[in-house]
Amino acid sequence: MVQNVFSDVASAAADDASDLVPWVRSAQKIVVLSGAGMSAESGVPTFRDAHTGFWQHYDVEQLATADAWWANPQLVYSWYLWRARMVRSVAPNAGHEALARWGAAADVFISTQNVDDLHERAGSAAVTHLHGSLYAFRCDECAQPAQLSSDVFSGVADPGTDEDLVMVEPPECNHCQPGRIRPDIVFFGEFLPQQAWQQTEQALTQADLVLVVGTSGVVQPAASLPFIASSLGTPVVEINPVASELTPFMDLSIAAGAAVALPQLLHLR
Ligand code: OAD
Repeated sequence: MVQNVFSDVASAAADDASDLVPWVRSAQKIVVLSGAGMSAESGVPTFRDAHTGFWQHYDVEQLATADAWWANPQLVYSWYLWRARMVRSVAPNAGHEALARWGAAADVFISTQNVDDLHERAGSAAVTHLHGSLYAFRCDECAQPAQLSSDVFSGVADPGTDEDLVMVEPPECNHCQPGRIRPDIVFFGEFLPQQAWQQTEQALTQADLVLVVGTSGVVQPAASLPFIASSLGTPVVEINPVASELTPFMDLSIAAGAAVALPQLLHLR
C-alpha cells in the first residue's frame, strides 16, 4: 500500500498521482467504517483525543468492561444512560448527512463502532453497529431484549466525572431472576455481535471503495476490517484530521474532519 496523505479533499483530488476522483465517480458499492471521530463535530466526545476524549476523564476499567458491569452495575448503567441522553441532545452533522445522500444514489453500507444513532437519524438506511447501541438493552442473565420508556432518555447534565454521575439502578428483568437490564453494548472482554461482523465482512468483500472515517484504529477486532478490503486490492481512503494507527496502510488519507471532508467527497461524484 502507498501512503498518500493530503491536507484536504481538494488537494487529494487535484494531485496527478491520486486516483481519488475516479474511485469516487465509479464506486457503486461503498463501505464506510466509522468511529468516534464521525460524531465529533456533532458534539459527541471521542474516546482517545487529548483533552476531550472520554478516556481522558473517565476510567475505562470502571465503566466499559464486563468486569465493571458485574462489580458495579449501577455505575455502568448510569454512565451509559447519561451518554444516551447526551446523544439525544445533539444532531447529525454534515458528514452523516453526506453519507445519507450518497446512500440514496449508490449502495452505501455503514459499519460503525459508534453506539450513537446519528447515521440513522441522518437518514442512512444500511447501518450496522459493531459495538452495540446506546438505545438497546437486554438482560444480563437471560439476554432477552428489554424496552425502556423513552422518558429515561430525556434530560442531560454533564456529570463531569464518574463520581458525579446521578446514579440510576438498573431495572430487574421481567423474564428471569436475578437478571438485570444492561446496555446492549459490547464491553471490553466481550464478543462483537456476530451478525454485524459477518455483514461487514461480506460488504467489504464486495466493495469497490472503502472509507475509514474517524477511528484511531487501536481497538480490535474492528481495526482489522480495512485490511480485508486492502487484501483484495480495493481502494481504502481514510478521513481523520490526525494520523491514526491505520494511516500507514491506507491508499490515501485525507487530514480533515468528517463534517468537512465527506460533503466535499460527495461533491466529486
Ligand atoms: P477513538 O477516540 O479511539 O478515535 C477517534 C478518532 O477520531 C481519532 O483518530 C481522531 O483523530 C479522530 N477524529 C477526531 N475528530 C474527528 C473529526 N472531526 N473527523 C474525523 N475524525 C476525527 O475512537 P474509536 O476509534 O471509535 O469501544 O474507538 C474505538 C472504540 O474504543 C469505541 O467504539 C469504544 C472505545 O472504547 C467500545 O465502547 C467497545
